[in-house]
Amino acid sequence: QSILILNGPNLNLLGTRQPEVYGPTTLRDIELICAAKAKALGLDIVFMQTNHEGEMIDLLHGARGTHAGVILNAGAYTHTSIALMDAISSIMLPVIELHLSNIHAREAFRQTSYISKVCIGQICGFGAAGYPLAMQALAEYLGNPA
Ligand code: DQA
Repeated sequence: QSILILNGPNLNLLGTRQPEVYGPTTLRDIELICAAKAKALGLDIVFMQTNHEGEMIDLLHGARGTHAGVILNAGAYTHTSIALMDAISSIMLPVIELHLSNIHAREAFRQTSYISKVCIGQICGFGAAGYPLAMQALAEYLGNPA
C-alpha cells in the first residue's frame, strides 16, 4: 500500500521559517523521518510539497487510484480553502490533517480549519514528530499496523 504525504505553501522553507514556531527541522529531514517510518510500517510513500492551491487539488485528485490514503499539511490553505475541502470530500480517500504547530493555541484565524470536517482526524502541535504519528494512525486505519 502506498500513501501520499502532501505539504502545502511555505513548508519548503522549514528550518529557516519561524523556527520558534515550526522547529529547526527541514522538509528534507521530515522526508527522511517519513521514509524510515514507512519502512517500519511496510508502506510505500510519495512525499511532495507545493506552494499552489490548485496544484494541491490536482495532486489530491491524482491520489485516487494511486494511494490508499493521504497525510496533508495544507499550511495556510487549511484556514481559507473551500476548494481544498471539496477536493478532500470528492476523492473518497482517508485524509489525515496534520500541522506542526498547535493551531488551536495560535491566532484566532488559525483556529478555523475548513478541512477538519472532511478528514478522518487531525494531529497538530508535535512538530516533525507529528508526521510519523500520522503515518502510524493512517496505517492502523487502513488495517496495516506494524
Ligand atoms: C501549519 C499551520 C498553518 O496555520 C500555517 O499557515 C502553516 C503551517 C503547521 O504545520 O503548523 O503554514 O500548517
